[in-house]
Amino acid sequence: MADLTRYRQLWKGARELKCFDLFSRSQRLARIFARYGFSSFAYDIQSQASQDIVSQSGFYEALNAGLMLADHGLCCAASPCSLFIPISQSVHQRYDWCVNGNLRNFKVRLSNTIASNTCVLLSLILRFQPMTYLVIEQPKGSFMWKMDYFRAFFREFSAFACVLTYLGFWGLDLLKPTHLQTNLPKAKSLARKATRAAKNKFAERMRKKHERMRRAGKEPPIYYKTHVDNGTDGVQKKRFSGTKNLSRTAEYPQRFVTALFTCWAATYAATQQ
Ligand SMILES: C[S@@+](CC[C@H](N)C(=O)[O-])C[C@H]1O[C@@H](n2cnc3c(N)ncnc32)[C@H](O)[C@@H]1O
Repeated sequence: MADLTRYRQLWKGARELKCFDLFSRSQRLARIFARYGFSSFAYDIQSQASQDIVSQSGFYEALNAGLMLADHGLCCAASPCSLFIPISQSVHQRYDWCVNGNLRNFKVRLSNTIASNTCVLLSLILRFQPMTYLVIEQPKGSFMWKMDYFRAFFREFSAFACVLTYLGFWGLDLLKPTHLQTNLPKAKSLARKATRAAKNKFAERMRKKHERMRRAGKEPPIYYKTHVDNGTDGVQKKRFSGTKNLSRTAEYPQRFVTALFTCWAATYAATQQ
């Protein structure tokens, strides 16, 4: 920590970034900021191999972007969730009494390192630039919030609220209940409830979409399969397992990105008066 504090003291970059889109395969959030004339930076290992939060140089590249955030800038972190969610329980084997999961599995260890480095990065951003708005996103049920370092993070930065929304109501092809942990004041407007009417509307949209696909000779994608097995307690349980199409649902739908930008823009405008 002493090294990083010294690094911050010596850091001489300009603080003009309005959006740091961390883990941004689609780059949609960074793009909408840029479209409205606000400088933005997207970071993702799939865009550039050097942008690896697990490597030392990749971590510093992310830290530099964080330090470049202007007061009231937004950092949105969509940390990889695939090995924290219930659908991959059989692989990660995380439980409330063993949140680190199956450490004999390399991918589980890697997911833990990505999550802990993300948490350290976000803590540093808030300590060094306390006027930053953060949105940290994970699917509902993710174990990530239960990791010791995230628990400590939310104890230290207590101004965070948890907003439940459903990406399916913003145009995604899966309902995907999602938690946003955020200190962005107007983010409550992103909350959505899974009312019967909203679920029916979503089902109708998907029915029409699948009908159009079939007419065009395409099979609608399957995102997960269900099966029943006997749990360790001998009680039959319905299990889900993701298919390879599931990873396509990681990208934020455009309507969600537009709403998040609008939230930030309204907050930012109020701070400029
Ligand atoms: C859940 S997706 C987020 C996608 C985002 N919601 C969007 O709209 O583009 C997580 C992203 O983390 C990236 N990622 C995974 N491991 C990483 C690493 N070690 N360093 C940086 N990015 C990584 C993946 O490439 C993936 O795009």
